Amino acid sequence: MIESASTHDASIRIRPMEEKDVNAVSALDRLVFTLPWSYESFMHELKHNPLARYYVLDAGGSVIGYAGMWLVFDEAHVTNIAVHPEKRGRGWGEKLLRHLMAVARDCGASKMSLEVRVSNTIALRLYKKLGFTICGRRKGYYQDNGEDAYVMWAPLNDEGAVHDGCEEVE
Ligand SMILES: CC(C)(COP(=O)(O)OP(=O)(O)OC[C@H]1O[C@@H](n2cnc3c(N)ncnc32)[C@H](O)[C@@H]1OP(=O)(O)O)[C@@H](O)C(=O)NCCC(=O)NCCS
Repeated sequence: MIESASTHDASIRIRPMEEKDVNAVSALDRLVFTLPWSYESFMHELKHNPLARYYVLDAGGSVIGYAGMWLVFDEAHVTNIAVHPEKRGRGWGEKLLRHLMAVARDCGASKMSLEVRVSNTIALRLYKKLGFTICGRRKGYYQDNGEDAYVMWAPLNDEGAVHDGCEEVE
């Protein structure tokens, strides 16, 4: 699916990630995350993981963001989402996540999950805005500093609306 998500800038669109994007995507990953994925990890996802769906924010040929997920039966799991620091606060992160949610729904998923650092207040706000609820906490999940992760879930349709044990646990 190719979507033109261009309310802010007509030259920026969301499109499926291709192998030619992986250099730029892994460079952005290194810029943004303390535990970045390797070039090979992204390549493996694109070439060998039939459950993976990855998209980039393409600004006139430059990758300024990306997001990905795994589709496993009726559940989608967000693996990563990032927007270049200079392009943040303009609605692109929200558009990327809404795009993943729409694709997952189209593919038959009823709910979506993700993990997020407990200190990542900006991402937490984005996720809550789009209907995610904190459903659990993984102790020491992140290897760099031992930080905990919140596990969040969002319904994608009526069937995904009820998730046992899914309550605010902050
Ligand atoms: C999280 C991230 C993808 C958001 O992208 P973005 O394009 O800046 O976000 P948007 O402009 O679409 O904002 C969407 C919502 O996010 C939240 N948000 C964004 N920037 C924020 C800020 N500076 N302070 C508080 N909340 C913020 C708000 O809820 C916002 O909605 P609102 O504008 O209606 O208040 C981006 O900050 C990023 O790449 N962060 C580093 C990578 C990361 O942490 N990824 C998540 C890993 S789990």
